[in-house]
Amino acid sequence: MNKAEEYTQPIGLDVGTSRIVVARSAEGNYTYDTQLNAFLTLPYTKLAATLLQRENVFHEVKGSQIVVAGNDAQRFAEVFHAETRRPMLHGVLNPDEPHSLAVLQAIIGKLLGKAAFAGQKVYFSVPAPVPNEKGGTAFHEASIRQILKELGYDGTPIEEGLAVVFGELGESNYTGIGISCGSGLCNVCLAVLSVPVISFSVPKAGDFIDSQAALVTGEVATRTRVQKEQAFHLNGMTGDRVQNALTVYYGEMIENLVETLRSHISSAQRLPRLDQSIPLVLSGGTVMPKGFLEHFGQTLRAADFPVKLSEVRLSTDALNSTARGALMAALC
Ligand SMILES: Nc1ncnc2c1ncn2[C@@H]1O[C@H](COP(=O)(O)OP(=O)(O)OP(=O)(O)O)[C@@H](O)[C@H]1O
Ligand SMILES: [Mg+2]
Repeated sequence: MNKAEEYTQPIGLDVGTSRIVVARSAEGNYTYDTQLNAFLTLPYTKLAATLLQRENVFHEVKGSQIVVAGNDAQRFAEVFHAETRRPMLHGVLNPDEPHSLAVLQAIIGKLLGKAAFAGQKVYFSVPAPVPNEKGGTAFHEASIRQILKELGYDGTPIEEGLAVVFGELGESNYTGIGISCGSGLCNVCLAVLSVPVISFSVPKAGDFIDSQAALVTGEVATRTRVQKEQAFHLNGMTGDRVQNALTVYYGEMIENLVETLRSHISSAQRLPRLDQSIPLVLSGGTVMPKGFLEHFGQTLRAADFPVKLSEVRLSTDALNSTARGALMAALC
């Protein structure tokens, strides 16, 4: 495939609470590009705007403020000892954040650029509904579709759990359970021959672990998150307070996920007959600490599980799995 053809291919887009990932296919390989889904604001001065421009920092001037977005927001937060803010919360646009839509639009625009032709296909991830949710998912989905339309793309939503099934379970004919444990949510889909049969999301995920661990240790959530990402192993209690708090809330998150999965499958009205056992695959940033798979497996085996599982494994590319799956669905 030559370069020109490559740019006209469909695209997979994972719009996550903490990271936005784009997947493209090029000569039989997948390539990924990522931006943090975060921003910070600085008061506008002509000098600051000129300096940011000169340094090639990704920013926009919004009235009396300068909004620095994506990976550069993290870099600046470290320099200025400021906290980054997030356009999304629990998998959807944050209703309490006035900059949310503009930041998302800027980051998606930066990652995708304009469509190669009107109507180029983009499959983008959306969360499965959370129980008692008040319409945020529908608004979120419509907003992303609109952002894509303004860039010339034809956007199609795909639930994140189903994207994981597309990205990971081709060898079992897209039959099995795909789970993405992200920052705002865990998204789950049980699919049979690519058709979603059960899908749901639960709000206890990475952000829950960070904020709860921060609460009980007197730290700020940014610091507990950094410790979790850099040095945490899920293998029992240690002498360190933050590690212990992370262990406790990881345990609670996994317990909650497994129990919700068990009860959704048990109470499913029309589960197709599954003659064979099915695989379960775990992806998303929250599955990355050493010991996660073992702990998940133990929690699963602690009580009867309503379907037979042939294997329980981790994605080999947990941070890109949703974007790759969305791309594979777009290519089907
Ligand atoms: N090495 C790591 N160890 C532990 N946690 C990690 C690691 N790397 C990332 N994370 C956590 O994974 C989460 C981000 O994962 P991911 O990118 O899959 O989420 P997301 O897709 O942005 O969010 P969501 O799907 O909930 O909208 C964050 O909570 C982050 O702290
Ligand atoms: Mg995600």
